[in-house]
Amino acid sequence: MERRGFIKKGLQWAASLLGASFLAYPAFSFMTFRKATKKRIVFHPEDQAGAVTFKEGVYLIREPNEIFALSAQCTHLGCTLNYDAVSGRFACPCHGSVFTLSGKRISGPARKDLYRVPLTKTASGDIEAVLEVG
Ligand code: FES
Repeated sequence: MERRGFIKKGLQWAASLLGASFLAYPAFSFMTFRKATKKRIVFHPEDQAGAVTFKEGVYLIREPNEIFALSAQCTHLGCTLNYDAVSGRFACPCHGSVFTLSGKRISGPARKDLYRVPLTKTASGDIEAVLEVG
């Protein structure tokens, strides 16, 4: 084989290998195990004044006897829920699922209630919500 032919073949192999890796990357990245990560959302005392406060994908709900947090992600396909202060319910703008203030499913294509997000209170009065992402 001539030197020019050898170099040409080598470049073709390199280009083929590069193209194959671009095509294979989405398949391999889909098959690999995804590690769930945790995201901390801090509600400072000034954030806790309202009955329902939204921050970074979490609703903090203050009721007379309890403070709890719900994920704002719809359990159908994951759209972010809107809170309707008039009805006191959460409504999904995507396909219309509706949930009570406590997170119970009322109607719509969603089959599960909203997820409760664990809370911890710090010495400084902050409330930390730990949301699982991914
Ligand atoms: S994503 Fe909320 S109802 Fe479909």
